[in-house]
Amino acid sequence: MKKTFKRYTLTSALPYANGPLHIGHLAGAYIPGDIFARFLRLNKQEVVYVCGSDEHGAAITIKAKKENTTPQAIIDQYHAQIKKSFADFGMSFDIYHRTSEKIHHELSQEFFLNLYEKGEFIEKYSEQYYDEDFHQFLADRYIIGTCPNCGNEGAYGDQCEKCGASLSPTDLINPVSTLSGKAPVLRNTKHWYLPLDKYQPWLEQWLLEGKKDLLKPNVFGQCSSWLKQGLQARSMTRDLDWGVDVPLQEATGKKLYVWLDAPIGYISATKQWALDTGNDWEKYWKKQPDAADDTCLIHFIGKDNIVFHCITFPSILHAHGEYVLPENIPANEFLNLEGDKLSTSRNHAVWLHEYLEELPGKQDELRYVLTSILPETSDSEFTWKDFQARINNELVAIFGNFINRVAVLSHKYFDGKVQAPSHLTVTDKFVLEELSRYPERIASSLEQYRFREALAQFMNVARLGNKYLADEEPWKVIKTDEARVKTVLNIGLQIAANLTVLAQPFLPFTAEKLFTMLNLERSGWDNAGRPDLLPEGHQLGAVQLLFEKITDEQIDYQLDKLSLAKTKNAQAASKTPASPAKASISFDDFAAMDIRTGIILAAEKVAKTKKLLKLTIDTGIDQRTVVSGIAEYFEPETIVGRQVSILVNLEPRNIKGIESKGMILMAEDADGRLDFVTPQSKFKPGSTIR
Ligand code: MF3
Ligand code: ZN
Repeated sequence: MKKTFKRYTLTSALPYANGPLHIGHLAGAYIPGDIFARFLRLNKQEVVYVCGSDEHGAAITIKAKKENTTPQAIIDQYHAQIKKSFADFGMSFDIYHRTSEKIHHELSQEFFLNLYEKGEFIEKYSEQYYDEDFHQFLADRYIIGTCPNCGNEGAYGDQCEKCGASLSPTDLINPVSTLSGKAPVLRNTKHWYLPLDKYQPWLEQWLLEGKKDLLKPNVFGQCSSWLKQGLQARSMTRDLDWGVDVPLQEATGKKLYVWLDAPIGYISATKQWALDTGNDWEKYWKKQPDAADDTCLIHFIGKDNIVFHCITFPSILHAHGEYVLPENIPANEFLNLEGDKLSTSRNHAVWLHEYLEELPGKQDELRYVLTSILPETSDSEFTWKDFQARINNELVAIFGNFINRVAVLSHKYFDGKVQAPSHLTVTDKFVLEELSRYPERIASSLEQYRFREALAQFMNVARLGNKYLADEEPWKVIKTDEARVKTVLNIGLQIAANLTVLAQPFLPFTAEKLFTMLNLERSGWDNAGRPDLLPEGHQLGAVQLLFEKITDEQIDYQLDKLSLAKTKNAQAASKTPASPAKASISFDDFAAMDIRTGIILAAEKVAKTKKLLKLTIDTGIDQRTVVSGIAEYFEPETIVGRQVSILVNLEPRNIKGIESKGMILMAEDADGRLDFVTPQSKFKPGSTIR
């Protein structure tokens, strides 16, 4: 049986206030959340839908450092920009808050103290790098050094991006602080850890058993693989100077971990909303005396946030004890753009604020296209050509065309007055019968977070109307049988009115236009499906054009912009000076290197790494295994049979449990682009390279 709820608390991930929004954000956490919130409201459910800016953590301080300004300046700038873009785009948040507000700091500290006083945290001392010039402990990303695994000199304190090794700052050889450029010193520091390992059995029960039929497969899969690996205690405090103060005397100068405070931002946003509107925030978040009165909490997020919303935050809520737990966490996968990952640093993106300026008044067009391609079960792809095709061939040619025809004809033949239908044909009855079924179909898709399917069903209503008019040809029939035309246009208008009601969750601006155009009273989902939304004698409003075709010029402009960004990146890269030469070596050092030609016999990904391939190489001397950090550039299947150059007398190393013997020679540019270094023609394996 379907579970029913008293009320809903919906959240969309709090975006970091360190840059503008792009279509990837929209497709991940925002469009689904907004459609769902609007749908529930249309069903007269009690809903609060909250969001806000995430203004703490390294994401902010690193950006400030890069721009040579303060974290406060960064969050003020981007919070304002993001808030405005969301508003202009028509997001229906009940509040867009920010985590730098006092009410949020206080609530986060309350949460910390609640768990602290219950003795939930494990207190641990550890040695951590400290920058003596800057008088601060260093976050992992603020330390670089040589990777103990592959020798990359630019490895970060948490990860070597070259070989993919996951590191701790103390693993680095010759660590350097990115703040002072000097070697950091180790200092003892105390932190408070959330014992996720202790919660593991509860998590398995609550999440894996309790929600196996509820969670989307992509979400369930990630969670079970995390739990299978075994959870470890995670520090909830940081040695930083930006964030929420740890509310303990002995922790002066320490801040709460951003992933502790940020999700609490959902609650503090609700609290502020309740203060502003005279509501009671607690009933939206806290368990009620009778569990049947509990709120249904749903988090809309992108896939990189799954672990925090399915494991960390629920553990915190559970440990606190007074709060409801999320009912569902419908995370989306990633959206790509024109065959490439979206990238802020490479400026390979469609920025929301730019879209709104360059294609003004086309919010619903973007909503339509993104909803059609939401990465619901796997990554998906936005291209400008597809954007144009979907708008011109679907929104304009089907939906817009149908509405326009029925409205124009009604004005032309009957002065915009709805006429009474007379005798209903078999077709008429069939069409009305179909019409009555769609609200339930669409609702059922939405309830399962299948937004693409729901939108496709909605468009089928427009198709139904379009086909009906095309088949009945009222513009011809009018010459011989006016009574029939009255019936056809009545039915056409009822379909148009239903489309208006049903469009509301998906295309809110268009729905507004349609309400005015049909002079139709606003109504909720319960009215949808009816054949009499527009009564006989009802006067329609003036005809408006709903959608315009997207021109080739508009698309070319966008494509040019993307290729300009590519050119600029290439130019910037060519201007970056090559890294300085290393210290000189003797001829003997050089001659000691035994480099041979070889052939790749087999290649496969190393499990649980992003960058590593396990290669089997025919070196002419032997067949051997080499682990190489090239998986992001080469698909294993495509490189089998390739010629390579290999340093065969490098001492073997153990990488992720695999003995790697030798090193493949690769060229790499400043952007990290990789290619094999090999002779121009084929050489017998084992040929020497000097
Ligand atoms: N700022 C995070 C991101 O962009 C999301 C935070 S979601 C919250 O990945 F739950 F922590 F608020
Ligand atoms: Zn490395």
